[in-house]
Amino acid sequence: MASVTFKVWRGTRDQGDFVEYKTDITEGMVVLDAVHQIQAESAGDLAARWNCKAGKCGSCSAEVNGMPKLMCMTRMSDLPTDRPVTIEPMRTFPLIKDLVTDVSWNYRVKQEIARLKPRPADDASPSGSGSGAWRMDQGDVERVQEFRKCIECFLCQDVCHVLRDHHMHGEFIGPRFLTYAAALEMQPIDTDDRLAYLKDKGGIGLCNITKCCTKVCPEEIHITDNAIIPLKERVVDRFYDPVKKLFRVFSGG
Ligand code: SF4
Ligand code: SF4
Ligand code: FES
Repeated sequence: MASVTFKVWRGTRDQGDFVEYKTDITEGMVVLDAVHQIQAESAGDLAARWNCKAGKCGSCSAEVNGMPKLMCMTRMSDLPTDRPVTIEPMRTFPLIKDLVTDVSWNYRVKQEIARLKPRPADDASPSGSGSGAWRMDQGDVERVQEFRKCIECFLCQDVCHVLRDHHMHGEFIGPRFLTYAAALEMQPIDTDDRLAYLKDKGGIGLCNITKCCTKVCPEEIHITDNAIIPLKERVVDRFYDPVKKLFRVFSGG
């Protein structure tokens, strides 16, 4: 058992500061355990959001020693404890209290993105079996499967400099929703088209592929390589390819 010092952000949107707490750390503890222990021992009013304690609900996102992390998946044994461990809220979203931020902007963005619009089932024709099945290539299924692992922790949104430093929440939907859009655009039965949205309202051109989002994703989704870059290619192909542009002018398309 070792006594460890934590510097935890306390405050509201208007004012706040780091407050030091000491608590004993035992084998197997994660940062969320330490927060719960601090709540029990010395700060009963410390606000922290969590739910599953299993890395699956995406609620306990925070910045531990300056890095966006799920508190329930960050082992104390992986942190240096010879100096204070800092725990602060995600900085990209408005603070509600202590470690709890208002992430509702993300849900509003999600509502803007056109939902899945499936083509008719492959066996819906009079000669088909009528069971409502679609046939698709296994490779296409696996490609979107990766994106569906997202737990909406919003750590990728937190670290993205377009949102974090430039506050372009009105112009850029962020890596989480580029991944969500990719899951729909690459879905083999989908018939909708989100490329104009991604170019204009979604602000995909603002992403400069720094890959910071990929580095912090707890589900290890290859956000930039597998979602953003292929979407960028589709947008460029559609709107900026000079040959296709000419063709559209002459065809009136
Ligand atoms: S790769 Fe793009 S979306 Fe990801 S953090 Fe960098 S700028 Fe943001
Ligand atoms: S893509 Fe990864 S980092 Fe971003 S919200 Fe989903 S799980 Fe979290
Ligand atoms: S409490 Fe659910 S992801 Fe951490």
